[in-house]
Amino acid sequence: MTLAAMRRAGTEDTLHVEEVALSEIATKFGTPCYVYSRRALTAAFTAYRDALQKHGVLARSLICYAVKANSNLAILNLFARLGAGFDIVSGGELARVIAAGGDPEKIVFSGVGKSRTEMHAALKAGIHCFNVESASELDQLSEVAGNVGYRAPVSLRVNPDVDAKTHPYISTGLKSAKFGIAYDQALSLYRHAAALPHIAVKGIDCHIGSQLLDPLPAAEATEKILALVDQLATAGIALEHIDLGGGMGIQYRSEEAAPTVADYLAPMLNKLKGRHEKLLFEPGRSLVGNAGLLLTRVEVLKHGEEKHFAVVDAAMNDLMRPALYDAWHDIVKVMQSGIPGDGAGDTANRTSLPYEIVGPVCESGDFLGHDRQLALAEGDLLAILSTGAYGMAMASNYNSRPRAAEVMVDGAAVHLIRRREDIAELFALESILP
Ligand code: LLP
Repeated sequence: MTLAAMRRAGTEDTLHVEEVALSEIATKFGTPCYVYSRRALTAAFTAYRDALQKHGVLARSLICYAVKANSNLAILNLFARLGAGFDIVSGGELARVIAAGGDPEKIVFSGVGKSRTEMHAALKAGIHCFNVESASELDQLSEVAGNVGYRAPVSLRVNPDVDAKTHPYISTGLKSAKFGIAYDQALSLYRHAAALPHIAVKGIDCHIGSQLLDPLPAAEATEKILALVDQLATAGIALEHIDLGGGMGIQYRSEEAAPTVADYLAPMLNKLKGRHEKLLFEPGRSLVGNAGLLLTRVEVLKHGEEKHFAVVDAAMNDLMRPALYDAWHDIVKVMQSGIPGDGAGDTANRTSLPYEIVGPVCESGDFLGHDRQLALAEGDLLAILSTGAYGMAMASNYNSRPRAAEVMVDGAAVHLIRRREDIAELFALESILP
């Protein structure tokens, strides 16, 4: 969530998600805790639908939610109910989508290294399409499909060599990336695919990166892909669908705006006017990122020689993005003015200081935010905003820390959608030597 999407209410100006005070969630479910909003998730999905509707392409579009952004079953189920398809990258994600009630016929399977077991499982499930990323993968898939007497539906992920202008770790569309098939080799690989008896050529796919705020690289990639689609048609290979990937960025800092879905998609959709192919999209972050936050409590305030530290009960194992990408997440106090008599001291006398917001993990890279001007007391609740995407999904048990609870707010109700892990569960799969 962004701060603008939430309201403050009550004597303490407590932050609310929908109708529920975050302080109540902390009391009931403990911290750290991921909090999602059903209303925000629905609104994000609807924004995509509305934009596609506005361009008259909704009826031939499929929005395949990129499961990797947040794979909680409740979230997958919510999108399935809204009619979404899914973009998966592993057998694990396939199983999740099916367990959540997703329609296998609306699944696309991306990724540079699908195992034969995963290919087999996806074929049996009857997925919509494999997004194939290399010549070897195509041959392996053909072999796996042949062994079970299937024809694998395929689109080739083509690398359009466009600079997405995002963080290098999440930029995927340049020639130097491990992703996709080189643009100049695509035609010959399509010819090869079309000749394989256990492969059914269905479409084309591209994804140039993530957290893209400028819509022009995606529009440029679309143009290149369309040129290839036309070249393929001339060569006698007619494609049924064009998959334009995901990547749309979201607002992470209150002072930095992000485009709306409609504005982001417009230049891309303008290039698709007058075409007949089915359109697929693979948004992840833009469907869930601003529908979630991470609730955490200040354990210790520590005033070092050079810096002030607020050690909170969430850490890099709960939210890796700051450590991994130097990513910024807004961090705000849940109660604007603390609770009188909560043992945290007189709130009026708290001094606002530039805090390093850090976790208890034994690494200097374990930070959630640098230099945040806040008036804090031990015991304060903080909300780390815009953490619905690639937050819990990338969480680990590093330092033997149980992963956080996840809850979904729906109006005035709160549902636990993943309980906090128990310590004993962390080593339940391990054994000692006889
Ligand atoms: N399709 C493909 C083939 C992808 O590789 C990705 C993301 C998506 C769709 C969804 O992209 P989105 O709409 O979410 O930008 N952990 C990083 C992000 C990694 C993105 C990987 N691929 C982060 O926390 O920023």
